Amino acid sequence: MLRHGLLVFLTFFLALRPSYSRRAPYAMRISCGARNDVHTPPTNTLWYKDFAYTGGIPTNGTRPSFITPPLNTVRYFPLSDGPENCYNINRVPSGHYSVRIFFGLVSEPNFDNEPLFDVSVEGTQIDSLQSGWSNHDDEQAFVEALIFLRDGSASLCFHSTGHGDPAVFSIEILEVDDNAYYFGPQWGQGTILRTDRRLSCGVKKPKFDVDYSGDHWGGDRFWNPLPTFGRSSDQTITTTKSIKQASTSPNFYPEALYQTALASTDNQPDLAYTMDVDPNRNYSIWLHFAEIDPSVTGAGQRVFDILLNGDVVFRDVDIVKMSGGIYSALVLNKTVAVNGRTLTITMHPTKGHALINAVEIFEVITAESKTLPDEVSALQALKSALGLPLRFGWNGDPCVPQQHPWSGADCQFDATSSKWVIDGLGLDSQGLRGFLPNEISKLRHLQSINLSVNNIHGPIPSSLGTVTSLEILDLSYNFFNGSIPESLGQLTSLRRLNLNSNSLSGRVPAMLGGRLLHRASFNFTDNAGLCGIPGLRTCGPHLSVGAKIGIALGSCVAFLLIVTCLMCWWKRRQNILRAQRIAAREAPYAKARTHFSRDVQMTRHYGPEHAKTATENGPSLLS
Ligand SMILES: *[C@@H]1O[C@H](CO)[C@@H](O)[C@H](O)[C@H]1NC(C)=O
Ligand SMILES: *[C@@H]1O[C@H](CO)[C@@H](O)[C@H](O)[C@H]1NC(C)=O
Ligand SMILES: *[C@@H]1O[C@H](CO)[C@@H](O)[C@H](O)[C@H]1NC(C)=O
Ligand SMILES: *[C@@H]1O[C@H](CO)[C@@H](O)[C@H](O)[C@H]1NC(C)=O
Ligand SMILES: *[C@@H]1O[C@H](CO)[C@@H](O)[C@H](O)[C@H]1NC(C)=O
Ligand SMILES: *[C@@H]1O[C@H](CO)[C@@H](O)[C@H](O)[C@H]1NC(C)=O
Repeated sequence: MLRHGLLVFLTFFLALRPSYSRRAPYAMRISCGARNDVHTPPTNTLWYKDFAYTGGIPTNGTRPSFITPPLNTVRYFPLSDGPENCYNINRVPSGHYSVRIFFGLVSEPNFDNEPLFDVSVEGTQIDSLQSGWSNHDDEQAFVEALIFLRDGSASLCFHSTGHGDPAVFSIEILEVDDNAYYFGPQWGQGTILRTDRRLSCGVKKPKFDVDYSGDHWGGDRFWNPLPTFGRSSDQTITTTKSIKQASTSPNFYPEALYQTALASTDNQPDLAYTMDVDPNRNYSIWLHFAEIDPSVTGAGQRVFDILLNGDVVFRDVDIVKMSGGIYSALVLNKTVAVNGRTLTITMHPTKGHALINAVEIFEVITAESKTLPDEVSALQALKSALGLPLRFGWNGDPCVPQQHPWSGADCQFDATSSKWVIDGLGLDSQGLRGFLPNEISKLRHLQSINLSVNNIHGPIPSSLGTVTSLEILDLSYNFFNGSIPESLGQLTSLRRLNLNSNSLSGRVPAMLGGRLLHRASFNFTDNAGLCGIPGLRTCGPHLSVGAKIGIALGSCVAFLLIVTCLMCWWKRRQNILRAQRIAAREAPYAKARTHFSRDVQMTRHYGPEHAKTATENGPSLLS
C-alpha cells in the first residue's frame, strides 16, 4: 500500500519536473591505467585519469574489440596482489546508474592474455567472463548493469578465478532516470538489471546512444546490429520521418532506434529470435515498435501476438492503436522466469505482418545484502594492525559476492539485521606480524578465532572479553606478552583457549581458572611468567603496591641496622684484643693501661672527637 502510494507520488513528481531532467546527468568515466585525463573522438568524451581508486598496475593496453572506447591503457591486477581488487569511487550522488566496465588486454607479447575473472558491483556478482570473450565484437567486451547507488560511493570489484590477471579498460558510471526500466513491483533497490543484449533490428553497424545523438539521461546504451531474423524473407524498413514519443521519460530512447525495423513477409509470417541464456534466471524483456511502413496507414492493419518461449505474453498488439498513431514509439516490457537454456521471442501476426524495431534483454539479479558496516571496519583495522600480506586481497565486502568471500573470514547471514556478519577468523600460520587491535571486539558475532603460529606481539586486548559468543580462542605460538586480561573471565561460552607458547606473565584470572571445571580445554604452558593454576608455578603472595614499597623500605632499614651493629661489634673486638696485647707486654704501666682502657670506652661512648684525643695520647703508650 505504502509502496503503491510512493510510486504514485514518484510518477506525479516526475510529471512535474521537466526542467529537472534537463540538468546534465552525473557522469564519471575513468580510463583505467591512464596517468592523464583523456578526450576521445568523435564526441570529445572526457575520461578521467586513473588515480587513487585501487591497487594493481597501470600499463599499455590492447582494445579487445572495436566497440571498446579508443583508449590506450589498462590496469591489471596480478594474482600475487590478492584475488579481490576493487575500484572505490567516492562522492557519487545518491541515484540510479548505468555502470559499464570494458575489459582489457595487456599489450605485452609474453603476457598470458584473455584473463577470465568475475565482476561484482556493490557486492553483487554481475558477470563471469567466458573464454573467447576477447574474440567477439559484441557485448562480451563489457559488462553493464543498472543499479541504485545510495551510500555516496561505488565499489566495483574484480575477482580472480585463477585464469590470468584481471585487466580493466574503462569504467563508466552514468546517471539515468530514477524510474528508468521500471518493470513492476520487484524493481528497485533490491534488484540489479544486467544488460544481456540490446539489438537494433534492421541495421548493420553497432551504435551507442551517443552515435544516435541520444539523450544523456539514457545512459549511452550500446546497440548491437540485428540485420535479419535469419530468414531471407525478412524485410528491412527504414524512414527518415521523425518519431513521436521516442525520447521520453524515463528511458529516453534515441529517435533513430525507431527509424529502422525488420518486418516479416507473406512467405514466413512469424518473426522469431532465439538466444542462449543461463537457466533458472529471471529476464526482463523490452520490445520496441513504431509503425514506419508507409503501407500501413491506421489501426487494425497490423496485429500480432508476442510469445516468449511459446507462451503468449502480449495478445493482439496493434502498434498504431497502442502508440496513438503512425510514426509513434511503443515500448512493451515483460519479466519472465526462464528455466531452460534458450529464450525465444516470437511475433506471430493475426493481421498483416509482424514488425519490430529493437529488443533489450536484461537479467534480473537480486542484489546481495552487505556485511554489517561495523564489522567491515573492524576487519579493516585488523588488516592494518596485523600487517596482512597483499596476497589476502581484503578488498570490497568481506562476505559478498558469496562466490568470493575474504579468505580467513567466515561469514554468516544474520536474519535480524539482514546483513552478513563474521563468525570466525582463521588466520593461523600466515606469518602475521603486528599486534591485535582493540577493534577486534567489534566483531561481536565471533565464535572462533585462530591466530596460532604467527609473530603477533603486544598484549591480548582486554576488549576481547566483550565478545561473549566466543567459543574458541587460539593465540598459541605467538609473542603475546603482559598478563591475561581479567575480562576473558567473562567469556562463559569458551570451550577452548590456547595461549601456550607466548610471553605471557602474571596470574591466570580466577574466573578463567574456574572454567576449567566445565570440561573446557585450556593450554597455558610455555609462558615463562604465568602462574596460578594447577600445572603452572604458584604465584607469590598477592601484595598491593603500597605494601611492596613498605616491605622494600623495611628491608633497607633492617639491612643498615645490621651492618652498623656488625661494624661496632668488630671495632670493639679489635680494641679489646689490642688492649689485651698491650697489657700483656707492659704490665708495669698498669695505671697507664687503665687510663687507656677508659679512653677506649670514651671513644665508644662519645664519638670520634674523644677517639681522636685517645689516639693522640696513645702513641706514647704504644711506641
Ligand atoms: C606504453 O607505450 C608508450 C608508447 O606508446 C611507451 O612509450 C611506453 O614505454 C609504454 N609503456 C609501457 C609500460 O610499456
Ligand atoms: C513495464 O511494464 C509494466 C507492466 O508490466 C508497467 O507497469 C511499466 O510501466 C512498464 N515500464 C515502462 C517503463 O514502461
Ligand atoms: C524470479 O522471480 C521470482 C518472483 O517473480 C522469484 O520468486 C524468484 O526467486 C526469481 N528467481 C531468480 C533466480 O532470481
Ligand atoms: C589453529 O591453527 C593451528 C595451526 O594451523 C592448528 O594446529 C590448531 O589446531 C588450530 N586451533 C584450533 C583450536 O582449531
Ligand atoms: C610487550 O612487548 C613490547 C614489545 O613488543 C614491549 O614494548 C612491551 O613493554 C611489553 N609489555 C610487557 C607488559 O612486557
Ligand atoms: C600445550 O602446549 C604445549 C606447548 O606449547 C604443547 O607442547 C602441548 O602439547 C599442549 N598441550 C595440549 C594438550 O595440547
